Amino acid sequence: MSENSAPVQPPTRLISHFANRERSNQPSGWVELWDAGDTEYWDRGKPSPALIDWIESRPEVLSHSTTSPSRLRALVPGCGKGYDVAMLALHGFDVYGLEVSKKAVEIAEQYAKAELREPSAHNFGSAHESRQGNSSAGEVKFLNTDFFKEGWERDIATEGFKGFDLVYDYTFLCALPPDMRKDWARRMSEILSPTGVLACLEFPLYKDLKAPGPPWGLRGVHWNLLAEGADGIIGDESQRETGELNGKFERVLYFNPERSYESGRGTDMFSVWRLKATK
Ligand SMILES: C[S@@+](CC[C@H](N)C(=O)[O-])C[C@H]1O[C@@H](n2cnc3c(N)ncnc32)[C@H](O)[C@@H]1O
Repeated sequence: MSENSAPVQPPTRLISHFANRERSNQPSGWVELWDAGDTEYWDRGKPSPALIDWIESRPEVLSHSTTSPSRLRALVPGCGKGYDVAMLALHGFDVYGLEVSKKAVEIAEQYAKAELREPSAHNFGSAHESRQGNSSAGEVKFLNTDFFKEGWERDIATEGFKGFDLVYDYTFLCALPPDMRKDWARRMSEILSPTGVLACLEFPLYKDLKAPGPPWGLRGVHWNLLAEGADGIIGDESQRETGELNGKFERVLYFNPERSYESGRGTDMFSVWRLKATK
């Protein structure tokens, strides 16, 4: 091994669990982990500090949304125990958490109920008191379904599906095998309102793009998928950007959040996307 090459790490149990698993068996792979209680590989135990700070900064891109006159409607796909779902509701959003695992939904429902009754301090950032006032909490609902199965979004709409004002992705895209990335981007474009935004806490950005996941390394993947409209499978680091902006999304914000989870090793990026206007 040369002096500069990183030591080869043995695959984690999470990687071994998904190794050689076909695309059609991905959901059952997650269900098995939830049923066995093996959630320690990804569970951070609290909502995303980067998302809290962004929401509390009252971003202008969110206030332009018009689909919900009273409350903005948010979705957290692959929401796990529902930390971000409860936090967004406590910041006044009506929120859907979506999970393929029934067990996860049961746990998330209990968690959200308890947090809405008696919120933990970890739901709020330093700007909460001064900026948010005392707006009441929004509603929380959980959907036990597969994100990729079209139709659930129409089933939850009472007056026709108008799309979400905010969709938040953290460790959902990186949980999917690379050949599912294009479908992730397509589904995001289908479920977002024309004025809504997709916010992503991009992680892991320190991981080699060719190393096996989950979590799969995502450096440059969001840009490739959403802005360039490519398939999100980046082979050669030196050719990460094609320069063609054929994607359905434009990036309206991109920053290195002051606070994030420790697991991001200081490399997490926060990106916000909206659909390009159709001519
Ligand atoms: C890496 S975990 C992250 C969970 C959560 N975002 C968190 O930070 O704790 C990925 C989650 O996505 C869920 N998931 C995977 N594929 C899914 C699918 N097709 N539809 C809905 N949920 C899915 C898994 O059950 C798992 O809880």
